Amino acid sequence: MKSLLIWLFPLLAGSVLAFWFLTRPDLIRISELPDHIPDFANGERIFHAGGCASCHGVDLAGGLELKTAFGTFRVPNISPDLQEGIGAWSTLEFVNAMMRGVSPDGVHYYPAFPYASYTRMDLRDVIDLKARLDAFEPTDSRIGAHEIGFPWNLRRGIGLWKMRYLDPDLVTNGGSVDVLIKTGRYLVEGPGHCAECHTPRDRFGGLDRTRWMAGGPSPDGEGRVPNITPHPDGLAGWTEKDIAYFLESGFTPDFDLVGGTMVEVQENIAKLEASDRAAIAAYLKSIQALPDPHD
Ligand code: HEC
Ligand code: HEC
Repeated sequence: MKSLLIWLFPLLAGSVLAFWFLTRPDLIRISELPDHIPDFANGERIFHAGGCASCHGVDLAGGLELKTAFGTFRVPNISPDLQEGIGAWSTLEFVNAMMRGVSPDGVHYYPAFPYASYTRMDLRDVIDLKARLDAFEPTDSRIGAHEIGFPWNLRRGIGLWKMRYLDPDLVTNGGSVDVLIKTGRYLVEGPGHCAECHTPRDRFGGLDRTRWMAGGPSPDGEGRVPNITPHPDGLAGWTEKDIAYFLESGFTPDFDLVGGTMVEVQENIAKLEASDRAAIAAYLKSIQALPDPHD
């Protein structure tokens, strides 16, 4: 028995140390920030592509409740208020929140904040986005804490989730040379975070990349999100023009009107230039066609 304890203790201590080491936040360093003068108009574009207002509100005051399988998240105030918002943050702090999911005090954010997609954003675009956010009116609304049960309330464990799912590389073949598809891929896989709804999740809440854009259960637990791959179960019957027109107007080729959580996404994407919508459409027609699951 005694010899067992002698072995067990270092083993336990080792595991705790390994956990602590593996779950530590991974940060972007100041030397990695490009020398870049913020482009306000591009910041506005990224703000709409990123759908920040859908969750944080049109005035960025927060307060929306996101109900998930893990509990209820309360979306924070990201207006430039110095106390309740993010007005006091440096560019580097903002970049690390958006692209590494780490707060200024070094705490992991929950992936309900779609940084697992935003991590693919260009650093210049994130700097431009900050300039756009800084121009909002500060609001001092104080947002309550999330209601998350054990063990999900222990944020340190999110470090393990990130090891498996936080990947700044593009998901689909990065070798394509078509400029339009490239732009679309960036907008969809990065700021647009379309996969966060259109790709099903595995049991740890990470996206199942083998089912990229093939649709799945809705994140809020109500109904399904459609397949938007070029498969007959998805968008095979839609031309690129149909997709671009849908994103601009909300009308499908059968003249149905967009519904559900896609309404706000569509309204945001409608604010982009037509060339960005054409790029998104070209990308969606270029990805692997996948059928709906037969369940
Ligand atoms: C799907 C909903 C959703 C979208 C879309 C979203 N966020 Fe968030 N955001 C959240 C949630 C939830 C949190 C809180 C995460 C946590 O507490 O771990 C958060 C946290 C943040 C934080 C940290 C705030 C703080 O006080 O620590 C920043 C900054 C932020 N979001 C910026 C943005 C920007 C900029 C965009 C648009 C590009 C955006 N978010 C889009 C849900 C969202
Ligand atoms: C918050 C979740 C969510 C996000 C994010 C999202 N979608 Fe959707 N999307 C939906 C839902 C739900 C529907 C079904 C809408 C309906 O019932 O009318 C849908 C429908 C669609 C359709 C029409 C499919 C059909 O068969 O009718 C297209 C095209 C589409 N989305 C593209 C996108 C693109 C491109 C993005 C990223 C810019 C995106 N979606 C981001 C939830 C989302």
